[in-house]
Amino acid sequence: MTASASFDRYAVIGNPVGHSKSPFIHGRFAAQTGEPIEYVPLLAPVDAFVPHVRAFIEAGGRGLNVTVPFKLDAHAFADTLSPRAAAAGAVNTLRVGADGVYGDNTDGFGLVRDIEVNLGVSLKGARILLLGAGGAARGVVLPMLERGPHTVTIVNRTSAKAEALVDQFAPAARDAACRLSGGSARAIEAGVYDVIVNATAGSLDAALPECDDRAFGSGTLAYDMMYGAQPTVFMEYASKLGARSADGLGMLVEQAAESFHVWRGVRPSGAPVLAELRALLAAPSRA
Ligand code: ATR
Repeated sequence: MTASASFDRYAVIGNPVGHSKSPFIHGRFAAQTGEPIEYVPLLAPVDAFVPHVRAFIEAGGRGLNVTVPFKLDAHAFADTLSPRAAAAGAVNTLRVGADGVYGDNTDGFGLVRDIEVNLGVSLKGARILLLGAGGAARGVVLPMLERGPHTVTIVNRTSAKAEALVDQFAPAARDAACRLSGGSARAIEAGVYDVIVNATAGSLDAALPECDDRAFGSGTLAYDMMYGAQPTVFMEYASKLGARSADGLGMLVEQAAESFHVWRGVRPSGAPVLAELRALLAAPSRA
């Protein structure tokens, strides 16, 4: 697709950004929905997010996805924020409008939709264990609570960060009638969890976050937000304990679908694009 006045322009901004699958995903969504969009990668120096975004907008850009390391910069840049972006403290989606730049965060929605729709596991009434308390974890707590789980336990290597998240989301948990608690691995409750999400950065260097084997059972979905051609160490560990495991490729596709919806008001179907990406990941020479 070439640039044209009849196409609305979108981009993913990051550093690095060359590896991003977002242009592929949004290209497929555009073809699927017939929406006239053009979507390109935009590399910005780590200290030059704002001038690059401003230049993109001045050139007619209508919206951006924001990836590492700019999600906090985007949060500061947005004129208005969605409640889920405010709760996450980070923005992955910017929409340019007549009334300014709107910042949203679709990551948590993407995770929840992948778990519920693609993997078929309802979070309503579920016992959820969330491993990690960094930006990735913080971004998913509110969308999880909105699904009405029975329990959410947040566990982190640095327990104070898990406790801070519990404090932050206590009002939302009360509204959802959900039992929210957390701290170190000692905060893990007795009994098997329905869903265990690895939101730590551990998989990047093949490190397993501290957990408790007894939390995993045959009815557990163990979800790693990371993905790759091979299962992560967390997925392998969970499989050995008899749990079903999944990686974060579906979350990537579903957060993109939600961003597309934020921009265009049209919701593309994630499942066929996820299947195509999965096949490409398994056969990288064709990617
Ligand atoms: P992100 O935005 O990806 O969440 P982050 O804010 O740096 O990145 O948070 C990284 C998370 O992974 C944290 O929960 C971190 O634990 P600490 O708060 O104790 O640092 C966790 N993490 C990173 N490496 C880990 C490891 N090897 N084992 C366990 N947890 C790890």
